[in-house]
Amino acid sequence: MMMIQKFTMGAPIATDAVVGEAAATDFARFPYAYRVENGQFIFSFTMAPDEIVYGLGEAPRGINKRGWVYQSYCSDDPFHTETKQSLYGAHNFLIHGERGIFIDFPARIRWDIGYTRADKAEITLYGTDFDIYLIEEKTPRDIVRAFRRLIGQSYIPPFWAFGYQQCRWSYHNADAVRSVIAQYDAADIPLDCVYLDIDYMERYKNFTVDEQAFPDFDRFVAEVRAQDIHLIPIIDAGVKQEDGYAVYEEGKEKGYYVKTADGSDFEGGVWPGIVGFPDFLRPEVRAWFGRQYRFLTDKGIEGFWNDMNEPAIFYSREGLRKALAAAADLQGQNLDLGKFFGLKDAFAGLSNSQEDYARMVHEIDGKPVSHQRVHNLYGACMTRAAGEYFEQAFGKEKILLFSRASIIGSHRCGGIWFGDNHSWWSHILLCLRMLPSVNMCGFLYCGADLGGFNENATADLVLRFLALGVFTPLMRNHSALGTRDQECYRFENTSDFRDVIQVRYRLIPYLYRTFRHAAENNDMIFRPLSFDYPDDVQARECETQLMLGEECMIAPVYEQNAGGRTVYLPEDMTFFRLSGSSVTAQPLSKGLHDVRVALNEVPLFIKKGKSVPLCPPASRTALLETDKTEWITG
Ligand code: GLC
Repeated sequence: MMMIQKFTMGAPIATDAVVGEAAATDFARFPYAYRVENGQFIFSFTMAPDEIVYGLGEAPRGINKRGWVYQSYCSDDPFHTETKQSLYGAHNFLIHGERGIFIDFPARIRWDIGYTRADKAEITLYGTDFDIYLIEEKTPRDIVRAFRRLIGQSYIPPFWAFGYQQCRWSYHNADAVRSVIAQYDAADIPLDCVYLDIDYMERYKNFTVDEQAFPDFDRFVAEVRAQDIHLIPIIDAGVKQEDGYAVYEEGKEKGYYVKTADGSDFEGGVWPGIVGFPDFLRPEVRAWFGRQYRFLTDKGIEGFWNDMNEPAIFYSREGLRKALAAAADLQGQNLDLGKFFGLKDAFAGLSNSQEDYARMVHEIDGKPVSHQRVHNLYGACMTRAAGEYFEQAFGKEKILLFSRASIIGSHRCGGIWFGDNHSWWSHILLCLRMLPSVNMCGFLYCGADLGGFNENATADLVLRFLALGVFTPLMRNHSALGTRDQECYRFENTSDFRDVIQVRYRLIPYLYRTFRHAAENNDMIFRPLSFDYPDDVQARECETQLMLGEECMIAPVYEQNAGGRTVYLPEDMTFFRLSGSSVTAQPLSKGLHDVRVALNEVPLFIKKGKSVPLCPPASRTALLETDKTEWITG
């Protein structure tokens, strides 16, 4: 009989992460060494030399989290290097040995997993009001299943959200969008969604459309829908402060924005200049903000991505005032090292500053609560605002929704994407490693910006990235303003891109079924090899391959100028090279192999006796003949 124990200290702030049952247990029975020090709760455990520690969802580094220090603190940081400690999500779930630990706590947590001392994990909660859940099961997969039952079923998007999606910051007007669709069609590359980044709005105001750039928006949405393409606009957390802008004014009049200690609205600068941040932690604000999406759903829009909701703050009025004053003081001076770098830091430190976060005040049950106590809930509550409205207005599985910031709990309302990665080869692996980790935490609909967001991509990088993206539920190519064009038709050998993306469409019946099964059974889509082969040393240490569903293993090529890679087979499998409609099979025995994979091929390994259905490729998910499948068998 499965039993989850719940240990409570103080008076925790409700996060609504947990929906299942757990047994309230006396803190005297908390099995870890702990102390309370300077308002922090610190607990620790020792790790056996070969013990693997899993978890933390969207985070830097490996699947095995040992050997680094991480922080749960939703961060708008576009440099996902291995020296970082946080990304956009705060996913407080860890597995070690036969135990899963979930810390239900919305403030900062520091996870030292063998950083200070290789054999010791020390976890610091920046506060003393929390719930900790301990889940004991025999295997990591069973721990995950029990944990996922506790936190409730993952979000399931509409079927078409499994199609290939093209994004860019930005397609500036309707003709730019038309051209993307026309060029994909001309190149005969499948496509289901085109994204509208911030420039579709009128001066970056949420729930507006720039009428010059997108005249007659309703008709435009219908025109595109008639081609079976979905337009997916972005929504940012902050609402532009502007007289006469109805959304802003209504929020202002009702007192819906995050405040400062003196009761005035907190003012931060983001894309549109100064914005008010809706206090999504309040149910009435969520309901109000959720209803605003109607402006776009009434125009035929069926999908959204929520952004800048860590929240990202470029500057605050106070911060800017201080930095400008520092600059004015130094005017005309001969700046030595200290002064010059001090000045530089005054400006560099303006964005996402701890001082600003510390000045923000939320309202919970009518009482003021400092932002730092609830930081990680902000973006998640924005997802809830939208997701709860969509479910109530349209029913389940109708609207595509994913977010940048998240916490465990928001996995029930929407998916996530992995934010502003780079067009770096190492980011193929970073994406791969996050997939099982976020699955453990309930996030199933997810993916990285394929081809990489920041900096310039090359054709081979985009192809190899796509060949991993073929398997990620969210398969979206996205890149930043000012970077090289990254749509598939921009590169030479366009047919290579067609070959790879057609494989996605051929696999959609299988991938969709695997996704649904994982959602409905609180299971993972992607698993580390060590979950399935716990006694196999090479499988345990493998961080470049994943198990997919019950049938497959994936092993993308992740290095430039490599015509293949080394792959470890933990059992006999058949190596399939899928490319357009072509399928090549090669049975391989357990062990290490060098496999050759051309740029237009997707490698897939199928276990002996297992089968995967392939349907004919189609240019849209709506045109897929999902019942016309041929099976490939390992
Ligand atoms: C943020 C998002 C990115 C988007 C950009 C402009 O950086 O993460 O995806 O393109 O903002 O809206």
